[in-house]
Amino acid sequence: NSNINVAIDGPAGAGKSTVAKLLAAKLSFVYIDTGAMYRALTWKAKEDNVDYHDEVSLTKLLEKMDLELKYEQGGVKIILGGKDITEAVRSPEVTNNVSYVARHARIRDYMVMKQQELAAKGKTVMDGRDIGTAVLPEAAVKFFLTASVQERAERRYLEQTEKGIESDIELLKEEISKRDRLDTERKTAPLKKADDALEIDTTNMSIDEVVERLLTITQEQM
Ligand code: C5P
Repeated sequence: NSNINVAIDGPAGAGKSTVAKLLAAKLSFVYIDTGAMYRALTWKAKEDNVDYHDEVSLTKLLEKMDLELKYEQGGVKIILGGKDITEAVRSPEVTNNVSYVARHARIRDYMVMKQQELAAKGKTVMDGRDIGTAVLPEAAVKFFLTASVQERAERRYLEQTEKGIESDIELLKEEISKRDRLDTERKTAPLKKADDALEIDTTNMSIDEVVERLLTITQEQM
């Protein structure tokens, strides 16, 4: 079956993108980071002084946005109007506001349409919040990755430390919980496990263990 897509959803910091990237490489599938699309719009809104709560202006901004996701060996490069914003979209400003931008129904409609186009030919691993429920409800394989808030904050802390950025576990926990709450409570396509998704609690698992597990299950469907 060549039309197969893998959907990976879950709360913030559960390791979805790390795992999705590795899984895609093993399967020779394309990895699609849908969070990056919402982050790019949030970054652009800040840049152009557009209010995160102004759905109409955000939609206009999105429609004229020249966004390119370039898949390279090391990961995904996010190019907006020729400018590399890969690092910029991970800033606290973007991370702490992206959920407000992602709440709007018109923004989501547009993003979902783009994401469905990207997956139309199959062979993708797509990660996000609503992939199994809204973007690719027919995906052949669906995973819902979770981990305790403590564990997710510790992972983020280590990531930041490796980059030489100082952070605070308690603050990270608050930010992660707040983002989960906004994503779970929004009206349009909230963060939710699809009924037919397999939930995997990664709290006590290594990245390699998670990837192997997902790989085995995916291959059984191929
Ligand atoms: O996955 P990542 O943490 O980069 O996602 C950033 C934010 O984008 C999420 O917290 C959520 O608000 C939004 N998002 C979404 N739907 C997706 C992917 C991301 O609403 N499919």
